Amino acid sequence: MAHASAFLDPRISAYLAAHAKLSDPLLAELVDETRLTYPELHMQISPDEGALLRLLVRLCGAGRAIEVGTFTGYSSLCIARALPPGGRLLCCDVNEEWTSMARRYWERAGLTDRIELRLGPALETLARLPMGPLFDFAFIDAEKTEYIAYYDALVPRMATGGLMAVDNVLHRGWVAGTAEPDERTHLMREFNEHVLVDPRTESVIVPIADGLTLITAAEPGWRTPD
Ligand SMILES: C[S@@+](CC[C@H](N)C(=O)[O-])C[C@H]1O[C@@H](n2cnc3c(N)ncnc32)[C@H](O)[C@@H]1O
Repeated sequence: MAHASAFLDPRISAYLAAHAKLSDPLLAELVDETRLTYPELHMQISPDEGALLRLLVRLCGAGRAIEVGTFTGYSSLCIARALPPGGRLLCCDVNEEWTSMARRYWERAGLTDRIELRLGPALETLARLPMGPLFDFAFIDAEKTEYIAYYDALVPRMATGGLMAVDNVLHRGWVAGTAEPDERTHLMREFNEHVLVDPRTESVIVPIADGLTLITAAEPGWRTPD
């Protein structure tokens, strides 16, 4: 299974994945093709996380979304499908080969008119965006050493009522342990503390998949406190 939770009982993880309602046959095909083509299937978000992203995009009425970390396209399909007609999803990734699979699935899903892929380091792509309320929904799932920088680049670009979702924040549950098993644990702890003390936002960590932080503005408009 793609990216099952490492800290949940495997039976519960499997049950959650089996009961995520995603009425999109292309998603199962994408999981299969990714599994057959790349050893990095584990990078793909799980079906229950995909279902949650889709629900969140709908709930916040997002019309403009951004994704940092696209891989073969699973999360982008979930997000783009939830956008209204005329909605736009900007995908940021560095890998041409992986995202060429995503492009094929966007085409098959009839979503090419609402998805734009920018290939290149995400921090450069983000830095080139104008400041201001550009996005109603943001999903971060790329290079873990850059999470704080993605977050800081996106906060001033979120629209009123917007929602940010950040993946892998529990890192197998190790962030809550006392040992220091690896560098990623350290990075995710740093990111989680950064968000926790940021007066601009409110947030909660949802223990789904590898942990997903949901972030909204502390005050309407995501404005920076004076
Ligand atoms: C965990 S995968 C994303 C999985 C995807 N959300 C899905 O559901 O399949 C991380 C992605 O981030 C991309 N990535 C890594 N470093 C990056 C960077 N500096 N800028 C943009 N993308 C990057 C990788 O190429 C990879 O496709």
